[in-house]
Amino acid sequence: MTKGWTRKVVVTRHGGPEVLTTVTEAIPEPGPGEVRVRVLAAGVSAFDLMYRRWGRLPGTPALPFALGEDVVGDVDALGPGVSRLAPGERVAGGTWALGVGGGYAEHVCLPADQLVPLPPGVDPAEAVCLVVNYLTAHQHLHHIGQARAGERLLVHGAAGGVGTALLELGKLAGLEMFGTASASAFALVEALGATPIDYRSEDFVARIRELTVDGVDIVVDTIGGGRHLWRSYRALRTGGRLVWLGSSAVETEGLRVAATSMAISALLRWLPDGRSVPPCPTMDELARADGEWYRATLGMLLALLAAGKLRPVIAGRLPLAEAARAHRLLEQGGRPGKFVLLPGA
Ligand SMILES: NC(=O)c1ccc[n+]([C@@H]2O[C@H](COP(=O)([O-])OP(=O)(O)OC[C@H]3O[C@@H](n4cnc5c(N)ncnc54)[C@H](OP(=O)(O)O)[C@@H]3O)[C@@H](O)[C@H]2O)c1
Repeated sequence: MTKGWTRKVVVTRHGGPEVLTTVTEAIPEPGPGEVRVRVLAAGVSAFDLMYRRWGRLPGTPALPFALGEDVVGDVDALGPGVSRLAPGERVAGGTWALGVGGGYAEHVCLPADQLVPLPPGVDPAEAVCLVVNYLTAHQHLHHIGQARAGERLLVHGAAGGVGTALLELGKLAGLEMFGTASASAFALVEALGATPIDYRSEDFVARIRELTVDGVDIVVDTIGGGRHLWRSYRALRTGGRLVWLGSSAVETEGLRVAATSMAISALLRWLPDGRSVPPCPTMDELARADGEWYRATLGMLLALLAAGKLRPVIAGRLPLAEAARAHRLLEQGGRPGKFVLLPGA
């Protein structure tokens, strides 16, 4: 039995960033099949904001609950029956529960099957970006979108955590890329290999027609909502796939975005015009259904990071105790990439 205390950040009631509270508790013991990880880096995501704000999202735990899914850290204890990891090993992984897995902590216990060893010399903050954002991007580009070299890709929210991951992976896959973003993020979108389109002042359907004539092969839509998905569909050429990945529009339109997105996706599937809307399970749903895919793909992404072929965009590195500030900055927008909490800082 470990003696000692550890800190974690919990949501005590739903509301603004101020509801995030740091609590101290006994260091947890790993259960059967679990390992305990001393966390070096924990990711902050759009899902965390939603679960903090609202109590009516499916899967919201009872209060108080700890936020965060993706972590990088050192294994410091093994639960009964664990043999694939060893104490002291540095690992990356997640809780397979977007937003509410308890990653905002100095220690977290996770199933060993959800963790992958880190190659030597990799920055924990960069590695943690791969767990949700790059896995999600890889799933939606390759598993769902079936991207092929030479095809055209339009990414919405191209400067966000998932958007920048999509552009990095799209470039490696040899795609011709376009990305919607605020004008302030144009230089970044261009540096990542895409032609930027200003979502605030331009009609992206008209702009895509202007740039390509017949449209793109894949749209990855991180914004959602009936009207947005319909417009994304119209930017596709024959044979094109509309991949619905997220619902950033909840920021402006509220929770009804999920319902209108599902309704329009179902309707568009009936249109016999050579374009398609494949089913889009979330990354954690796919991971639960296919743990082998999760471990193999995360291992492959970590190897690409170690080889210098990926450079995740980090919006900011903050101490764990400044989780509320990370949420405020993410809500304000305009900071490309992913915020990372560093419990040891
Ligand atoms: N399906 C899954 O498994 C899965 C996994 C992870 C995330 N997600 C979802 O994916 C979405 C994106 O996540 P994220 O972590 O990348 O969020 P993020 O880092 O907050 O990025 C969102 C980006 O979207 C931009 N944006 C906002 N409204 C836009 C619009 N109308 N058109 C184009 N760009 C717009 C923002 O730009 P400005 O800041 O300039 O406004 C920002 O750069 C979220 O809805 C999240 O819940 C889904």
